[in-house]
Amino acid sequence: MSIFARDLEVVDYRNFPAYALALGPGLTVLVGHNAAGKTNLVEALQLLTSGRSFRKPSPAELVREGAESCRLNLKLEGDGRVIDLGCSVEGGKRSFSRNGKRCRAAGVRGVVPSVLFCPDDLDMVKRGARVRREALDSFGIQLNENYAQLLSSYERTLEQRNALLKERYCTPTLLETWNESLAVTGAALTVHRIALLARIREHLVETYEGITTKETISVSYLPSWSQGCVPIAAIGSAPADDERRAAIDTISSRLMDAYSSREDEEIRRGMTLTGPHRDEVVFEVNGRSARSFASQGQQRSIVLAWKMAEVEVTRDILGRPPLLLLDDVMSELDAMRRDAFLSCVGHDVQTVITTTNLGYFNEHALHAAKVVSMGES
Ligand SMILES: Nc1ncnc2c1ncn2[C@@H]1O[C@H](COP(=O)(O)OP(=O)(O)OP(=O)(O)O)[C@@H](O)[C@H]1O
Ligand SMILES: [Mg+2]
Repeated sequence: MSIFARDLEVVDYRNFPAYALALGPGLTVLVGHNAAGKTNLVEALQLLTSGRSFRKPSPAELVREGAESCRLNLKLEGDGRVIDLGCSVEGGKRSFSRNGKRCRAAGVRGVVPSVLFCPDDLDMVKRGARVRREALDSFGIQLNENYAQLLSSYERTLEQRNALLKERYCTPTLLETWNESLAVTGAALTVHRIALLARIREHLVETYEGITTKETISVSYLPSWSQGCVPIAAIGSAPADDERRAAIDTISSRLMDAYSSREDEEIRRGMTLTGPHRDEVVFEVNGRSARSFASQGQQRSIVLAWKMAEVEVTRDILGRPPLLLLDDVMSELDAMRRDAFLSCVGHDVQTVITTTNLGYFNEHALHAAKVVSMGES
């Protein structure tokens, strides 16, 4: 048996003075009126499982208006043990705990990874490249601590190099102190991203082509240092150590070339113009760019297939599915996509769905679900 989320308790969090939610092992449907606090609870579950919130709140925003501090706890159960994950905000600072012991976000992340799907994700295909990079990274860091460390070390080094680029005394010689470490970290992060995208792609293509029947989809990684996409197959979903090292060497030297050929422009603009923070994830439907040409329905099918792929990739890598959090998406999907999704959720993926209307669920799904009505909070 694998670990699942059992009890969520919050105190002075968002709109709740105190609230306890017991989750079912399968599907839990949270039904309530607008502003009842449904998304707040989904956010609490995401924070406690991934160490991050999709809303990117400041610590103070998590604390109920008028209160001084807040506390969130999630009990996980399985494999013969109970794990208590906590998050609290006190004195304007956020901290995490595991079994009562204070830890960093990394200490709660990944015990039970979560996959969140909310209305903001629905236009992920059309929006700027940052949204797609973040989708890949926020999934990657839950599955692999190395990915998380590389990402934060890349972001830190990038910030320092950018700060230097903004200084009036900045020169190419001074930049050299940062170039190599940024290139090597950036290359390692790129290899992680491409390998993860290769895994996602396998499932995404199958699901998308299953939902739409007559269409084909391709997914690729477009690095900012290259004129074209890097074939995902060139790195693969599970590169051997020597392949990984060779790919890191190649990419870091391409990044170093890019830094030197664009240094004047970088100094003028005060920012680093090449690297994973400028790379793109590209979808094509029937050979045409989805960002430019996909209809709204096609875009939604891509996002749906992406989320379903995240569930399957978690299962492939960790041997167990993630906690799936679906915030208010049923009303946004048509009946066909809704049913496709509900059938993937199945009985072995612990899922929390929020809705204002139970009418979106077929009887079969509701029969097996735990339905929690959120009254006045
Ligand atoms: N720190 C806070 N203190 C007090 N109230 C807050 C705080 N943060 C958020 N809220 C309130 O919590 C309420 C519930 O928000 P939430 O987004 O969870 O609603 P919801 O049930 O998801 O509604 P909808 O169905 O419209 O999506 C909102 O009215 C919001 O203003
Ligand atoms: Mg909501």
